Amino acid sequence: MSLGNSSAVMPAAEHTAAAQTPVGAEVLRGLTSEPKTLSPWLFYDERGSRLFEQITELPEYYLTRTERGIFATHAPAILAAAAAGGARLTIIELGAGTASKTGLLLRSALARQPRLTYRAIDVSGSALKAARESLAQKFPTLSIETRVGDYTDGLGHLPCETSATSRRLVLYIGSSIGNFDPADARELLSGVRGQLSPGDRILLGVDHVKPLTPLLAAYTDSGGVTAAFNLNVLTRINRELGANFRLERFQHLARFNPESSRIEMHLVSTRAQQVAIPGLDLEVEFSAGETIHTENSYKFTPESATALLADGGFSVTHSWTDPQRWFGVYLATAVQDSRTGIGLRSDG
Ligand code: AVI
Repeated sequence: MSLGNSSAVMPAAEHTAAAQTPVGAEVLRGLTSEPKTLSPWLFYDERGSRLFEQITELPEYYLTRTERGIFATHAPAILAAAAAGGARLTIIELGAGTASKTGLLLRSALARQPRLTYRAIDVSGSALKAARESLAQKFPTLSIETRVGDYTDGLGHLPCETSATSRRLVLYIGSSIGNFDPADARELLSGVRGQLSPGDRILLGVDHVKPLTPLLAAYTDSGGVTAAFNLNVLTRINRELGANFRLERFQHLARFNPESSRIEMHLVSTRAQQVAIPGLDLEVEFSAGETIHTENSYKFTPESATALLADGGFSVTHSWTDPQRWFGVYLATAVQDSRTGIGLRSDG
């Protein structure tokens, strides 16, 4: 079957076994769409996860070190605000990865309360293992729970009842929310809110809108690590679905879309070509210059971050930023759920 840029979409080969797997189904959906897309979660196979860790250490990729700097400076204030009224916290981190910045927050939490439970949720079991090992070594008294999975099902069974003296603090840091389109981001936050009680808190880390030069440099680093990260998705499709993508015929592209306030990553086909994906019983045609849109990374203002949290059912109480205001960390309270009529506690 052949699917070109402008050709009609033909019935997809949904009967192949691979098309029923998450990767196969996403590749089938994305490469038979117009324009072609691939979801960014496909980046994170073992090599992709390693490349992402490398990205976070690049000089051009200011996001990680800027957020870390905010935590290094403000962690005591962040934890004091989260525990306002003297509440005991249970900390849950969504998309924890290797939790490399989280230690700064946990240290401040442990300074306030000697017994602390930290639950890390991530789709990568290997990242969670690394997080557990390094945190257990740093904080012997910390009770660490890890859960492999996505965020939508993992919060509810925590050994923590929200009460006048205890509450949950959900960490969703690292600008991960920026990889969701606005409607999905709202849905994600509402889903998290639905698993919390009024008065619980969320700490959201978002990348701010800023001048184009540093913004573009962060996604087009001179060492080509981001390009390798982007192209790795094709290597993954070759390996897992038997495809014959020739990587030298695709180029990494990052551009800023000001209307949507987002960095877009694409893979540009440098020539007209056809790619076979036997696992999906599919052939895909590319015209010269056609792109596969592989990622969005939304950039926020304080107003848009606050509005997003409000849409998700949270009210911002505090925020912290760096001297250049390049990154923002927002603390917000889960507000009254209008469906249940449960009211907010008045202790914080
Ligand atoms: C994981 N996420 C917050 C990164 C970002 O900046 O949007 C993913 C990334 N893509 C390219 N470089 C980093």
